[in-house]
Amino acid sequence: MAPYMNHLKFLQTISFLYALVTVKNVTGSSVSHDEECSALFQFKQSIIHQDDAACAAHGSQVFHSWNTSFDCCSWEGVACSNDHDQYGHVIGLDLSERSLCAHIKSNTTLFNLLHLQTLNLSGNDFGESQIPSEIARLKQLRSLDLSYSGFSGQIPNGILQLMQLSSLDLSGNSLKLHSPSLKNLVQNLTLLEEIHLSGVDISSSVPHFLANFSSLRSLKLRDCSLGNEFPAAILELPKLQVLNLADNTNLAGSFPEFHGKSLLKEVILGGTGFFGIIQESISHLKHLTVLSLSYCSFSGRIPRSLSNLTQLTYLAIGGNQFTGSLPSLVSLSKLDVLELSGNKFEKGCFPNWLGKLGKLSELYVSDMNTNSTEIPLFLASLTKLSVVRMGKNSLKYTIMVLQPHPTNIFRSSDESIARTNSKHIFQLQKSPVP
Ligand SMILES: *[C@@H]1O[C@H](CO)[C@@H](O)[C@H](O)[C@H]1NC(C)=O
Ligand SMILES: *[C@@H]1O[C@H](CO)[C@@H](O)[C@H](O)[C@H]1NC(C)=O
Ligand SMILES: *[C@@H]1O[C@H](CO)[C@@H](O)[C@H](O)[C@H]1NC(C)=O
Ligand SMILES: *[C@@H]1O[C@H](CO)[C@@H](O)[C@H](O)[C@H]1NC(C)=O
Ligand SMILES: *[C@@H]1O[C@H](CO)[C@@H](O)[C@H](O)[C@H]1NC(C)=O
Ligand SMILES: *[C@@H]1O[C@H](CO)[C@@H](O)[C@H](O)[C@H]1NC(C)=O
Ligand SMILES: *[C@@H]1O[C@H](CO)[C@@H](O)[C@H](O)[C@H]1NC(C)=O
Repeated sequence: MAPYMNHLKFLQTISFLYALVTVKNVTGSSVSHDEECSALFQFKQSIIHQDDAACAAHGSQVFHSWNTSFDCCSWEGVACSNDHDQYGHVIGLDLSERSLCAHIKSNTTLFNLLHLQTLNLSGNDFGESQIPSEIARLKQLRSLDLSYSGFSGQIPNGILQLMQLSSLDLSGNSLKLHSPSLKNLVQNLTLLEEIHLSGVDISSSVPHFLANFSSLRSLKLRDCSLGNEFPAAILELPKLQVLNLADNTNLAGSFPEFHGKSLLKEVILGGTGFFGIIQESISHLKHLTVLSLSYCSFSGRIPRSLSNLTQLTYLAIGGNQFTGSLPSLVSLSKLDVLELSGNKFEKGCFPNWLGKLGKLSELYVSDMNTNSTEIPLFLASLTKLSVVRMGKNSLKYTIMVLQPHPTNIFRSSDESIARTNSKHIFQLQKSPVP
């Protein structure tokens, strides 16, 4: 123990000297390693000794190791730098999902950690605290994650000064981004690669300027009250992998022509005003695993080339105005969820290739303009299926809505299906389908 402690003291002394000699940020303020440890300790005290009785004892587990007998670099959730010029400084703090329950005040000592590069407080309960504008002091921040942590109010101007930010996640809080606006945010924080603001009230359009973010990897703006037209050029950004704009009913948009080099993996537009056709060129999105276009205003034929997207596990195109015949999607063998309901496809029976999608666990094919009167036999070969909806077709029976649980056992009055696979028994209701 003793040599270890000596070593630590030595390191602390060294880093203290560094702090004195080299560490000064642009405003001239600097902070030593010991001051950082002390700031962390005071932050702990402010959380465990706060007034709110309902919060008492929360989060105490993580703080077991936050003990002044040891250097704060060894405390759980704290990361220090090994780099020559930052040596020993606290550069990372991850207190995500620790059941912390407290109010964050604007004078919190957290903002004395001037060397912090990553801060993750996601998944806690900060009781409708505002995000203090003093966060602007953390000029070195590259990654800030305050998602699902009970913050509320207007996102402060101070955030515009975090010029190094490449990853920002404020999702799942009752926050507003009005003044500053989304436009102000992206005008100042041009290094952003991940922008996750789902659930934040933005109430504006998406700035065209964002199409200039050639490093953008992930844009999640679900349920942000976005309006006007989404700049299609954003979909062509070379590094973009994830785009989620779901549940913005006033947001219009359409697909650009896609070219060969896209890295898009997830495109989630359900519940928006996106319209137009799906072009043949969608087959260029060869990394696509999730395509969700439900309840938009797409129309036209489903292109045959959709069947080239063989990595798809989730395909939802229900609730649009697609017409024509549905091409075979039998090559999409990784599909787990398939939703086709509520389109205006040509009249016909349920396609038999559905029975070959052996990994399907959810199948939504109601209101498809089919003329089959019998429950299709191929359902029996879909052994992983736990949810199927086939209502509003011409079936003589409706299938009960089955809950998503893999151990569901279905009862059947239809002998042929029951015999095909004894584990797979469907409960049919004899009722005229509306
Ligand atoms: C700090 O940790 C040491 C060793 O685990 C323990 O003996 C001591 O009681 C702790 N102190 C506090 C204040 O928790
Ligand atoms: C923050 O922590 C959560 C939970 O541990 C994790 O899922 C998330 O990826 C982290 N955020 C960042 C930006 O690393
Ligand atoms: C922050 O301000 C409150 C009063 O609003 C005060 O009680 C508390 O001691 C202050 N904390 C620090 C670390 O200065
Ligand atoms: C935006 O960034 C500039 C530096 O480019 C900075 O001077 C300015 O203070 C920032 N805006 C706000 C509102 O913080
Ligand atoms: C994007 O960048 C180009 C060139 O760098 C510039 O001409 C254009 O005005 C920028 N677009 C927007 C919307 O700012
Ligand atoms: C799609 O797959 C077919 C063969 O199934 C192939 O002929 C065609 O070139 C593919 N298209 C693209 C764009 O990959
Ligand atoms: C359903 O429609 C298709 C295509 O029009 C036709 O070939 C088939 O015989 C019809 N089936 C029934 C049961 O009416």
